[in-house]
Amino acid sequence: MGKVIAVYAMKGGVGKSSLAVNLAHGLAESGKRTLLWDIDAQGAVAFLLGQNGADAKAKKLFSRDVDPADVIVPTNYPELDLIAADLSLRHLESDLAVESPKRLKKLLDRLTPDYDRIVLDCPPGLGGISEQIFRAADLLVVPLAPAPLALRTLEQVEALLAEARGKKAPEILPVLSMVDRRKALHREIVAAHPQWPTIPMASVVEQMGLKQAPLAEFAAKSAAGRAFANVLARVELALGGTPWLTQATEDGWVKG
Ligand SMILES: Nc1ncnc2c1ncn2[C@@H]1O[C@H](COP(=O)(O)OP(=O)(O)O)[C@@H](O)[C@H]1O
Ligand SMILES: [Mg+2]
Repeated sequence: MGKVIAVYAMKGGVGKSSLAVNLAHGLAESGKRTLLWDIDAQGAVAFLLGQNGADAKAKKLFSRDVDPADVIVPTNYPELDLIAADLSLRHLESDLAVESPKRLKKLLDRLTPDYDRIVLDCPPGLGGISEQIFRAADLLVVPLAPAPLALRTLEQVEALLAEARGKKAPEILPVLSMVDRRKALHREIVAAHPQWPTIPMASVVEQMGLKQAPLAEFAAKSAAGRAFANVLARVELALGGTPWLTQATEDGWVKG
């Protein structure tokens, strides 16, 4: 059965979609059959994969008796499939709440036999959809801005998680996102959490939007490219998978 990785944060603009795309692409590159499911109405994922306008049917999945296969599209990358969001997903939250609090989990249960990894790009916020995500995910990857307030929101996520899932809560992997090592505060926060992977603030990450491609396709060896590979390794370790990325360097874990 495949594992569900939710890239989740309470805030927008913290690097969720960039991380979700790079994670899913890296997993697929490593040979894992991967589905990237965009459940954020902004639809950033399809855009970053160069598949804008690929699918206007995402909403259909949330009505009963629709075969998930109908809304899954292949991408330009081997082993990587996509369920794109579109604006019709803006009602997702209320749809899910009305239909059943376990709707998302049930949908994912139908998809996990066909995939090794399912990566969810989640909408920001703490609505009903968050609870569904907490129920459904095996691992929550939480990008955080290196700021004191962001660290507080992580505590809030942990508290919510404890409430929503009780004893079977998914593990949380915090990721310090958009780290600028020229800033003393950023360096301090990184030093205070040595076990958390970091992603540097880097223009190559922004260029994903221009190139409409995952970072590894055009800047795999950049500091940011290696940082995303490191996050991927940590995700696999957290899921108890084979640590196939085990070459330790001063940047952390990189592809062996
Ligand atoms: N590490 C980074 N360095 C520089 N810019 C980044 C980084 N991560 C994301 N961005 C940029 O910040 C903006 C928001 O990123 P995005 O991944 O869409 O966040 P979210 O999904 O949380 O809203 C985008 O323009 C993206 O290119
Ligand atoms: Mg996003």
